[in-house]
Amino acid sequence: MPEITYVLPDNSEKTIEIPLGQTVMDGSVRNNLPGIVAECGGGCSCATCHVHVDQTDAQLFDEPSEEELDLIEFLDGSCERSRLSCQLVVKEGCDGVRIVVPDTNS
Ligand code: FES
Repeated sequence: MPEITYVLPDNSEKTIEIPLGQTVMDGSVRNNLPGIVAECGGGCSCATCHVHVDQTDAQLFDEPSEEELDLIEFLDGSCERSRLSCQLVVKEGCDGVRIVVPDTNS
């Protein structure tokens, strides 16, 4: 299983094994990590699962949909590294990815 490292809002780090096909949001919620609220449960409508992903790591995931980009555009603290973690499906090759969780999701 790929290991994903979450850099949490307090700057501590937690590395979690996530089964293929689950999302980065699933990995956080199922392990009770702070910072990813995921109010809509992965429906790409709440944006409370906002994270930052470096460009190199971002290439390992599918491109964002128009829906995701629209939500990110109006989000506080968004930047070119912004993604919604419920849209980041873990695949082979995602081992070692680092996900930065901002403190603006609650
Ligand atoms: S969980 Fe709501 S948009 Fe990702």
